[in-house]
Amino acid sequence: MLAQQALPAAVAGEDKAIGLPVLAASTSTMARARWSATSAGHKSLHILGTILPGAMAGRNRRCRRIRAFRCRPPLLWSAERGDVRMTELQPIRFIDGAGYEQMMGIWSRSAGEVFLDWLAPSKGLRWADIGCGNGAFTELVVERCAPAHVVGVDPSPQQLAYARQRHTAGLAEFVQGDAMALPVADQSVDAATMALVIFFVPDPAKGVAEMRRVVRPGGVVAAYAWDFTTGGFPWQLPQDEVRATGATVPWPPQAEIVRIDRLHQLWADAGLQSVASREIVVERVFPSFDEFWRVAMLTPVLGALVEALPSDALAGVKERVRAALRIEGGKVVHTGKANAVKGVVPR
Ligand SMILES: C[S@@+](CC[C@H](N)C(=O)[O-])C[C@H]1O[C@@H](n2cnc3c(N)ncnc32)[C@H](O)[C@@H]1O
Repeated sequence: MLAQQALPAAVAGEDKAIGLPVLAASTSTMARARWSATSAGHKSLHILGTILPGAMAGRNRRCRRIRAFRCRPPLLWSAERGDVRMTELQPIRFIDGAGYEQMMGIWSRSAGEVFLDWLAPSKGLRWADIGCGNGAFTELVVERCAPAHVVGVDPSPQQLAYARQRHTAGLAEFVQGDAMALPVADQSVDAATMALVIFFVPDPAKGVAEMRRVVRPGGVVAAYAWDFTTGGFPWQLPQDEVRATGATVPWPPQAEIVRIDRLHQLWADAGLQSVASREIVVERVFPSFDEFWRVAMLTPVLGALVEALPSDALAGVKERVRAALRIEGGKVVHTGKANAVKGVVPR
């Protein structure tokens, strides 16, 4: 069952800056984090001897934390001792193609199958897969659509390396680049897609305009995206429970664009024709709760944050997640919901 928790107002578009700050420490850095009590009696997260101010003291301090981010420069931890390393806020990064495959690639392909059935593309098309990541959706296009060619574009070298290594059909090439400035010629492809990407693009309208630019007249521009606004992101339950401890689990910078009406409007505003949208609900079965939890911890940032929780807080989080899950015969049956949109480039 989907959790119906709305995004916090600050993330849901009122203050985009709040959606951007993200814990930036590597897992190893975060693993060195520890909890302690400040002199004020509040819990704080100490990282390499630094303190995340007011950030970790429980659900009721969330608003104060958001205000703190509003008036602070983009530095998450302030140096308090000479041996402290300052860490800048950075966006969510995908730096582990194999981990991504377990954590998200499998979900992406499930949603992608429904999405491709809905697109019903002809064979022999030239595709651009924007934000191709580790190639999870790209491979689906190769397997199911008999493309003439696919160009996958992504900013992450690690994801691209995984995509190149997994691709054996010789139909796809993978290029480093940004959705807002695609390294693809005008009108050079028949179909451009974004699979689970649009919420990461800082200016989604620019991203859609770029997809339109590279697609020939009569070609299709399409996307699907987890619906963060209604609990559709498959890992939202564990993320929310970790948030409830007071930890800052980042939202994608444009999480609210995934609302189905917003996607539809975005496509219409880009001048695309025959715009259509739909929901995609997918299910994934995990053999046990332990396996569900292991895979959830591969989500960027979450595993590191959980490692930093005191054992009693961690036990509470796990128990609440377990209680909220659908478990049948020991297996976890879990659901995700994406919204999809498509439109045609005018002739
Ligand atoms: C959730 S993954 C989706 C990967 C793949 N499309 C799939 O379906 O599994 C999001 C991807 O978007 C990429 N990304 C983030 N910002 C981007 C941008 N501005 N332009 C293009 N891709 C971006 C990330 O590097 C990451 O690989």
